[in-house]
Amino acid sequence: MKKFIQGLPKAELHLHIEGTFEPELMFKLAERNDITLPYESVEALHKAYDFSQLQDFLDIYYQGMSVLRTEEDFYDLTWAYLEKVSKESVRHVEIFYDPQGHVDRGVSFETALNGIHSALVQGQKEFDISFGIIMCFLRHLDEDAAFETLESALAHKDKIIGVGLDSSEMGHPPSKFERVFAKARDEGFHIVAHAGEEGPPEYIIEALDLLKVERIDHGNTCLRDSALVERLVKEQVPLTVCPLSNTKLCVVDDMKNHPLPEMLKLGLKAMINSDDPAYFGGYLNENYEAVSGILNNDKDALALLARNSFTSAFLPQSEQDKLVAEVDRYMTNV
Ligand code: HPA
Ligand code: ZN
Repeated sequence: MKKFIQGLPKAELHLHIEGTFEPELMFKLAERNDITLPYESVEALHKAYDFSQLQDFLDIYYQGMSVLRTEEDFYDLTWAYLEKVSKESVRHVEIFYDPQGHVDRGVSFETALNGIHSALVQGQKEFDISFGIIMCFLRHLDEDAAFETLESALAHKDKIIGVGLDSSEMGHPPSKFERVFAKARDEGFHIVAHAGEEGPPEYIIEALDLLKVERIDHGNTCLRDSALVERLVKEQVPLTVCPLSNTKLCVVDDMKNHPLPEMLKLGLKAMINSDDPAYFGGYLNENYEAVSGILNNDKDALALLARNSFTSAFLPQSEQDKLVAEVDRYMTNV
């Protein structure tokens, strides 16, 4: 099954580039930037990755990203991710990043964006992986800060294809950012939002009705509301599900209880993603492997997830068709 997953063409649509920061690279860049990390070693840092909820992770995630200072740092971070997934039959990536996590500590908007973007351009050339960049607003910050961030993005529509919403979900409902997302839509950005990771189904409904999202990031708690499930099925709203993230952050207690099989049975348009692979113990293929067992190692189910990843991507229909055809071809040969 590992070999099958390895060769299966797929896209990744829910990936925080700052969440790919491996401890080894973090120590290397800390040294390059003359920063002392509050951990003695790579092992000590690994040991700190023990989370019982989203906020535990976010605290360490923001501390980790503070090592990123120069355009080269962002390039190296993104390049390391691309090198990894180029060996996983990943054909397209839509990458999140958190501009406020950098601008607020004195790193310019352009430094982060240009570093990430140039690595992705190089990755497209070298690995034939197409890409999009989605900037996320930090929802624990206020509306004014999000507006300011959106303002900075307007000069970079050639590089940023969409806006999203991440960070601490509870107490920060999508409604807090209704006006910012209205402006982002007017400016032509694609719209996504994290909703229903820890937050209630009402947050998913707000993301749909108020932010007018095209995909829901996570969406697990939709299963508590059958009318919402019916709507998500009918409208085929993509859910960017992240299995290893869910168990690591205790959104799901055990992989054998992960709701993915139920989601697929209900007809929800789910697909698999790695979220923050350096922190959650696995990149994209390891997330497919993690759910393979609960899907009875059904190759058709895994192929459906891969097809969903392409048909949920912000790509022209012709590109989606081409990538889906790669899955079809792969399936006739296995
Ligand atoms: N949820 C919310 N915010 C995040 C996440 C996540 O899984 N990863 C990085 N920021
Ligand atoms: Zn996420």
